[in-house]
Amino acid sequence: MTIDVVVLPVAGLGSRFLPATKVIPKEMLPIVDVPLIQLAVHEAARAGVRQVVLVTSGSKRAIEDHFDHFWELETQLANRGKHEQLAQVQAVLPEDVSIVVVRQPQPLGLGHAVLCAKDVVGNRPFAVMLPDDLIDGPGAGCLADMVALYESSGACSLAVEEVHRDHTDRYGIVSLLGERISGLVEKPLPAVAPSTLAVVGRYILPPQVFAALQHVQPGSGGEIQLTDGIAALLADIEFRPHRFRGTRYDCGTKLGHLQANLAYAFKDPVLATALLAWMHEHLL
Ligand code: G1P
Repeated sequence: MTIDVVVLPVAGLGSRFLPATKVIPKEMLPIVDVPLIQLAVHEAARAGVRQVVLVTSGSKRAIEDHFDHFWELETQLANRGKHEQLAQVQAVLPEDVSIVVVRQPQPLGLGHAVLCAKDVVGNRPFAVMLPDDLIDGPGAGCLADMVALYESSGACSLAVEEVHRDHTDRYGIVSLLGERISGLVEKPLPAVAPSTLAVVGRYILPPQVFAALQHVQPGSGGEIQLTDGIAALLADIEFRPHRFRGTRYDCGTKLGHLQANLAYAFKDPVLATALLAWMHEHLL
């Protein structure tokens, strides 16, 4: 068994980035020149995923449009001989990957958003990625490593990283028994958090999570939490922590988004030289 489908919940309001996100979904904010959502879809494609389920809300049409053909633009670029830009536009959706859009009718939480993908995913194990969590890792990336773990061991997994104890109330926090996740709690206060190992936005999940989510009561923040659906399965299904390689940028915050932009800008030698010179002159 492999993982061929990923669910991307993208129905959130993006209120931290207002007014930029008044009409533009936060997942369309660029890291240098590539929208966050595109970085997530390409990481999924490198992991072997062939179907992407976008869970959207009414105001997110720009995301669907981004992965669609835009004939007018493509024709104009071709006519003007702008072949490099044309190739970039045509590579937005990776080859052999298709997009399915489902709506989350009400903002009832991350668990509810994932549940909205139930009919498309069906009885397959699947991945969930939160595009806000940008993971810049070696090789084919974090999700590819998690899919490889699933293929070799059959174990579901959650990407995790150590966080400062003061920040446990921002994350799902895991407890471990050896190399198996034995407990999972959403946004515990630092004083009662069972550990400082936090879930970040990559999950390999079994289809049984849908049935669990149907029975989950509103939890942290009054929302149906994915964490609570997974926690209900831990006694019966093996979940492993995946301590990913590389760096995670929390692009749901201004600081994380700026850090990601700088880190990715420095990957481009021309941009890096100019940026560094500007920083020396104006900031240092
Ligand atoms: C969500 C999850 C949380 C996880 C986090 C990772 O929280 O509910 O368990 O640790 O993503 O970014 P959110 O950031 O949507 O509040």
